[in-house]
This record gives sequence, C-alpha cells and structure tokens, in this order.
Amino acid sequence: MSAAADNTAILDAFRAAMRHVAATVYAVTTGHVGERHGILATAVSSLSFEPPSLLVCINRAASLHEPLACADTFCVNVLGLGNREIAEVFEKARGEDRFGIGDWREEHGVPVLASAQSYFICRTAHRHEFGTHTIFIGELIDARHRENAAPLTYYDRHYIDISAAPERAPR
Ligand SMILES: Cc1cc2nc3c(=O)[nH]c(=O)nc-3n(C[C@H](O)[C@H](O)[C@H](O)COP(=O)(O)O)c2cc1C
Repeated sequence: MSAAADNTAILDAFRAAMRHVAATVYAVTTGHVGERHGILATAVSSLSFEPPSLLVCINRAASLHEPLACADTFCVNVLGLGNREIAEVFEKARGEDRFGIGDWREEHGVPVLASAQSYFICRTAHRHEFGTHTIFIGELIDARHRENAAPLTYYDRHYIDISAAPERAPR
C-alpha cells in the first residue's frame, strides 16, 4: 500500500472511531473590536486545577480563530439539552447571526450564554499550533454552573440525551 493510501485508511479509521466518541457540545465565544464571534466545538478539555484551566482546539480556518488569537479572553459555554436550538443556529448561521437567539450577555468582554449548563470565562495563557489547529489554553477568571442541567451530547453525528442513560452500576 502507498503512503498516501495508508494515510487515507488511517484518517478513515480515525473518523469512524471518533463518530462513536460521545462528546459534550460547547459554544466557544469571544469578543473582539466590538464584535461577537463563536463556533460550536467538542475538542475542549479541562486541563488543571492549579491553576484552574482548560483548553480548546480551534481550526485555523474557522472564523473564530483570528479573533480568538487577538483577544485576551474567551468563554467556553457548556450547552445543555435546553440549548439545542443554539447549537442548530450556530451550525446554520454565520458571524453575528449566530447570536440571533438565546439569552446572550456580555461578561469580561465576551459573550456568555446565561441559560448554558455552565460557562467558563478564561484568559488566554498559552497557544500551541499543531496540524490544522491551535490549542488555546485558558486560565479561569470566572465560572457559573446551573444545577439540574443535562448536557447536550454529540454522538454518531446526532445530538443525544445522555441523562436518559441507566443509573450507574455499583462498583
Ligand atoms: C458538533 C460539532 C463539533 C465541532 N467541534 C469543533 C472543534 O472542536 N474545533 C473546531 O475548530 N471546530 C469544530 N467544529 C466546526 C465549527 O463549529 C465550525 O463549523 C467551523 O469551524 C466553521 O465555522 P466558521 O463558519 O465560523 O468558519 C465543530 C462542529 C460541530 C457541528
């Protein structure tokens, strides 16, 4: 098999495997020169408790990338089941129109979704480029959490409700 065919096979296997990795859906947002920017993302992870920090992986071709690279702060909005429409608007709309529905407000200069399951406002501490993406590491400067929220989850190219899963099995 040629190296190119080999790479295609690896990419296909990667895509197929990742389809079945259930992921929480986030709206990553920032504000830059008076404009709001945001994309849907699943490549988000908590990083450390000391300092409280998390990371987001953003494609350099995404509209959010440049404003995020220029801005000091960003917000990771954890979407709940009640925010499904927000996810759909983020997929269909572009630019400012992504903020056309939902209870968005501004905190620390970034758009936060008041009805999100939780949100984390971060100051960018570090960036690392890899392949097509930049990993933005943010230190937490503010956070909110709503009790009784259930996460919006992306699985097999669909949004699903994992709160309907059976109770945890005893250890
Ligand atoms: C469920 C879902 C998860 C996504 N996760 C990411 C992600 O983690 N990082 C990323 O850069 N783009 C991600 N995307 C793609 C972006 O949301 C966006 O569609 C793409 O960057 C193009 O946005 P633009 O039109 O603003 O340039 C995801 C899209 C969907 C539907």
